[in-house]
Amino acid sequence: MKTLILFYSFSGSTKKLASQKAAETGADIEEIIETKKMFVLKAYTVGAYRAMKRNKTEIHPIKSQLNSYEKIIIMAPVWAGNPAPAFNSIVEQLPSGKKVELVMVSAGGGTKDSAEGTKNLITAHGCEVTDYTDIKTLVKK
Ligand SMILES: Cc1cc2nc3c(=O)[nH]c(=O)nc-3n(C[C@H](O)[C@H](O)[C@H](O)COP(=O)(O)O)c2cc1C
Repeated sequence: MKTLILFYSFSGSTKKLASQKAAETGADIEEIIETKKMFVLKAYTVGAYRAMKRNKTEIHPIKSQLNSYEKIIIMAPVWAGNPAPAFNSIVEQLPSGKKVELVMVSAGGGTKDSAEGTKNLITAHGCEVTDYTDIKTLVKK
């Protein structure tokens, strides 16, 4: 199945995981980049607020031809319990009818309060959520 991994990463963890997944599966991969990189303070204030409200952020145009893929894997960090705003910017551009796998990357490793809402965003675009995974990036001692 022709697969594309689209990912956003603020501090590099999701980028590393996405690159590993691409290497393991042979999927194509594209990084989603914000037109203005946020400073950390802004990410924790404006960015976290936007994530909670499921608002978008401005991103550079996606270069991949999304229509040419059967499956799209979206990987994004969790901000304030929700996918980071760039995730919402990607979802908006999904062509209908795609199989979509979601990978949420977070320090806590859980998105139980937002997972259903996140999946609903995908199905609202006429796509099917085939898998949803949480990945924890920090090991608490
Ligand atoms: C603005 C901001 C908000 C965050 N909020 C959460 C959160 O609510 N829950 C959580 O588990 N981790 C949270 N994190 C941690 C990130 O999800 C985690 O470090 C993730 O691995 C970062 O991925 P990245 O390096 O690809 O950006 C937050 C990080 C940032 C920058």
